[in-house]
Amino acid sequence: MNEKVKLFAHRGVSGEYPENTMAAFKAAVEMGADGIELDVQLTKDGQVVVIHDETINRTTNGIGYVKDFEWKQLRRYDAGSWFDPLFINERIPLLEEVLELVKDRNPHMLMNIELKNDLLEYPHLEEKVLEIVNKLEMKEQTIISSFNSESLVKVNQLDPTIETAFLFAGIPTDIMTRIKTLPIQALHCEASFAQSIIGRKIRDMGMPLRVFTINSLEEFTLLKKEKVPVIITDYPHIFLNNL
Ligand code: G3P
Ligand code: MG
Repeated sequence: MNEKVKLFAHRGVSGEYPENTMAAFKAAVEMGADGIELDVQLTKDGQVVVIHDETINRTTNGIGYVKDFEWKQLRRYDAGSWFDPLFINERIPLLEEVLELVKDRNPHMLMNIELKNDLLEYPHLEEKVLEIVNKLEMKEQTIISSFNSESLVKVNQLDPTIETAFLFAGIPTDIMTRIKTLPIQALHCEASFAQSIIGRKIRDMGMPLRVFTINSLEEFTLLKKEKVPVIITDYPHIFLNNL
């Protein structure tokens, strides 16, 4: 049977709203995306916040590293105006706030939480994320992904029942070894991997390949032929009528 391709809104509907903000996540829910991909980092006082970069420079009106701010300082910055002045009231959300929103508005939505600990070390990020997911009782619909494979091992040690996915760019030469040694249930990869010989072989072994970041119908059509189960996109609406 041909399963419908699922759409995950990358950083929320980040093509049309400021990425990783409540506005972008609300749009994903309202648009009917199957899932949301978001990125998490840790503040100085150990709060899990939703932001892609290690610094707030690109996506807020402030400057500095997320890890150097306490949450009460960080929440003062405007995380929307850089995208459009219309979004002046957007703030960097807490992971918990986003999960509450999703649980409230679409309890079946899939959540892909990307641990952004590949450049900086965030002590106990894994524990903190799992604690929040469990508090909201959303484990069954959550996928934890990361470029940091050691962090995925930690997640699995903390809770072997939560889904983990290894995230990577390009076509790594050691990917077969990774698959055999890491406690993962899926790969999050680029289109080039899904269309490669090794990618197809891994797919045929039964490992789901979720592909980022797909923003054109041409690419989408090619990936459908590869039987990709999920695409991660900044513009879910482009594809909603073409599944
Ligand atoms: O999770 C897929 C994708 O988000 C990984 O890259 O840099 O957009 O977080 P990035
Ligand atoms: Mg990401």
